[in-house]
Amino acid sequence: MKSSEIRSRFLEYFAKNGHRIVPSAPIVVKDDPTLMFTNAGMNQFKDYFLGTKKATDTRVADTQKCLRVSGKHNDLEEVGVDTYHHTMFEMLGNWSFGDYFKKEAIEWAWDLLVDVYGVDETNLYATVFSGDENDGTEIDDEAESLWKEFLPKERILRFGRKDNFWEMGETGPCGPSSEIHIDLRSDEEKAKVPGAELVNMDHPEVIEIWNLVFMQYNRKADGSLEALANTHVDTGMGFERLSMVLQGKKSSYDSDIFRPLITQIEKKSGKKYGEIDSTDIAMRVIADHIRAISFTIADGQLPSNTGAGYVIRRILRRAVRYSYTELGIQEPFMEALLDVLVEQFKDVFPEIDKQHGFIAKVIREEEASFLRTLGNGIKRFNALEEQALHHGKDLISGKDAFELYDTYGFPIDLTRLMAREKSLSVDEEAFQAEMGAQRERARSAGTSKTGDWTILIEDDREEFVGYDRLETKVRITRYRKVEQKKKSFYQLVFQLTPFYAESGGQVGDTGYISHDDERIRIFDTKKENELIVHLTEELPRHVEATFHAKVDEEKRAMTASNHSATHLLHAALKEVLGDHVQQKGSLVDDHHLRFDFSHFAKMEDEELRKVEKIVNTRIRQDIPLDEQRNVPYEEAIDMGATALFGEKYGDTVRVITFDPEFSRELCGGTHVSSTGKIGIFKVISEASVSAGVRRIEAVCSASAKSYYDDHVDELKEIAGLVKNTKSTLEGVRTLIEENSKLRKQIEQMQAAQAKNAQQSLKDAIQKKGDMSILIQKVDVADMAAVKGMAFNLEKEMGESIILLGSEADGKANLTLLISKGLTEQNDKLNAGTLIRDWAKEIQGGGGGQAFFATAGGKNPEGLEKALEKARTFISEIE
Ligand code: SER
Repeated sequence: MKSSEIRSRFLEYFAKNGHRIVPSAPIVVKDDPTLMFTNAGMNQFKDYFLGTKKATDTRVADTQKCLRVSGKHNDLEEVGVDTYHHTMFEMLGNWSFGDYFKKEAIEWAWDLLVDVYGVDETNLYATVFSGDENDGTEIDDEAESLWKEFLPKERILRFGRKDNFWEMGETGPCGPSSEIHIDLRSDEEKAKVPGAELVNMDHPEVIEIWNLVFMQYNRKADGSLEALANTHVDTGMGFERLSMVLQGKKSSYDSDIFRPLITQIEKKSGKKYGEIDSTDIAMRVIADHIRAISFTIADGQLPSNTGAGYVIRRILRRAVRYSYTELGIQEPFMEALLDVLVEQFKDVFPEIDKQHGFIAKVIREEEASFLRTLGNGIKRFNALEEQALHHGKDLISGKDAFELYDTYGFPIDLTRLMAREKSLSVDEEAFQAEMGAQRERARSAGTSKTGDWTILIEDDREEFVGYDRLETKVRITRYRKVEQKKKSFYQLVFQLTPFYAESGGQVGDTGYISHDDERIRIFDTKKENELIVHLTEELPRHVEATFHAKVDEEKRAMTASNHSATHLLHAALKEVLGDHVQQKGSLVDDHHLRFDFSHFAKMEDEELRKVEKIVNTRIRQDIPLDEQRNVPYEEAIDMGATALFGEKYGDTVRVITFDPEFSRELCGGTHVSSTGKIGIFKVISEASVSAGVRRIEAVCSASAKSYYDDHVDELKEIAGLVKNTKSTLEGVRTLIEENSKLRKQIEQMQAAQAKNAQQSLKDAIQKKGDMSILIQKVDVADMAAVKGMAFNLEKEMGESIILLGSEADGKANLTLLISKGLTEQNDKLNAGTLIRDWAKEIQGGGGGQAFFATAGGKNPEGLEKALEKARTFISEIE
């Protein structure tokens, strides 16, 4: 059975049993501080389990793109090494939100596997939860007796909290689970060891395929369990593993999901899969990672140096590293794999097809830049090797190995491998200590403690009324304390709110709530899943009171202005540059706007001018805002509204239009009532953010006015300085020309001076045997010129020792050159070591290589002494 059919049969089966089939949520999570990436099908339904939101459908099924590379569920290091773990995978799932429970979940799972897919039932095992004393949970008798309908007793196994109690993260919804495992071993092996002994033992052929979770609890921050108001079902089946089973393979990489990728990697590397272990691992790593990278970029997460972007960058680098060292590929090549992926997935996840060119560009640039870093790392490694050999050591220190890891992306196994090739070893213990120290630094920088909610009023729907009103009466439904580093603050939730929570690039509202004589400042508003949380530094005295809530009006108006201008800018960019322009990020606050978009070249001045002109014309036309709420998603798309990739939209959406022919977007933000309110729009910068993504920053309204005022003031000041009454510009040009003439003159004079100095130095050269010695103070300040002199003199003098003392800006400098031939003959003749000793006389330090070194010090008086010390040293050497 082809994998595409396996997927569709799953969805058909649950649709037939009353489930609504929903799209996969984006792989990159927004609005949930506990999670970076979707790591399970249930993530998008978290609020339904917790009861903070009511489900419109009580039975749902889907295939969800998941990524397990950070946090509680992290499989990264296993991937590629074994044959069945993956970073990105699809999870087939069915859910009941307060509807059916264990009986149906178990019966359907069995029916689908055995009757629909035709899995040999004698290979199946079920596990059930055995209870946990600390948590006060009991053995799951109900699940066990349900399984007895289908399986003999000896194939129903009990496991504890580690294996059979599923939790999404440190806190959140959880419950006992029941897993279905399959034994794929040969009859011969089965006869030797019964499958029951290998379940949950990390055996590659006795594996879990489906996890049925019975959601009953919420794990609180203090570690305790709280019963949920309703019971729910959350199941997840690994699509890749299921395909491997149904296609009779022993490794998911042999199924039709991965095989085409492996074939392409074989083609690109000229190596065969299945011959050498290390090559196979590399091919699996790359086949796995290209999926994780491509799908994440398609959902809007670009590789970067922080957060989720950094995780993606690391995955990509892991793939490049394997292809570089194991497959000998030293050029960007992953684009060819993306082509295969797009073919495979364009019908299931069209976002990957629609952004094919963009994803390819991002990956290519990342690969190229990491290959350069690797190249530099190899140079660094060679330098370290040379140093080690020079000092007669055969060890790369932990600190150096850590530098290679941290700066050049060399994992320890690569450093180890290269070291071994050079007969060196690596101080791994010290390396691990450095790693530990870094982890500790990261941990203490990012620690935050979130308390449990105190619930004052049960409320599953917090209404946002801030599109129409900026003040209203509110009541607090729940609150909690958050501690971050040394700061602590509170999060409050209201039954309704006029405060806009940061989202869609627009910053959160600020304002206050008041009661009696007490006024509490709201310093920010954020979204957590579906909740709007208001941040305050203190808790009101009477939390149960009714408060008057008011949003900062001025800030909201300026922010709305910048948000509407962003829509006009987006439309204008499409008009000027073309339809490939896609929003890749935006930030809108009360001072300015920032808009990131896909475009492959720097924008010409003329293009920017055109964009500004279009936006300003639209502003002057004073186009009224057309705001439509609760438009069915499909209808909005048919109306031509722009939707963003990686954004999760509900069934109904809000559509913001400024002239249907010009700008129409799906948007939850706040806007001006007509474009005239924006006043004026001015681009202040255009630059690259990453491969294929440009960034425009702009200002509007009062900020634009101040921008112009500042520039005019600056110009006036320049005019005053330049004193060219006819034209300031001409005046500046003349100054620049004069300056460059003067600079040339100075350079010429310096060169002549150095030449003279060099000439007179020759008289001071002395001989010691075949060696020429020159130890002298020179009257040249520029260190580069002194260095040039030393090298020039050496050419004329032959094997020589040259020590030049010089002064600049009240400081003393020493420049020491020892011909390479001499350094090789005599260990003591090491410029780096000698100069450190002599520099003591000028109260300074320095260093360098054996043949050339420099030092600087703060005591010019000591220069003569330093030179004297050198003379004595040389007179004494043999
Ligand atoms: N949440 C469970 C899992 O991820 C079942 O979907 O395994």
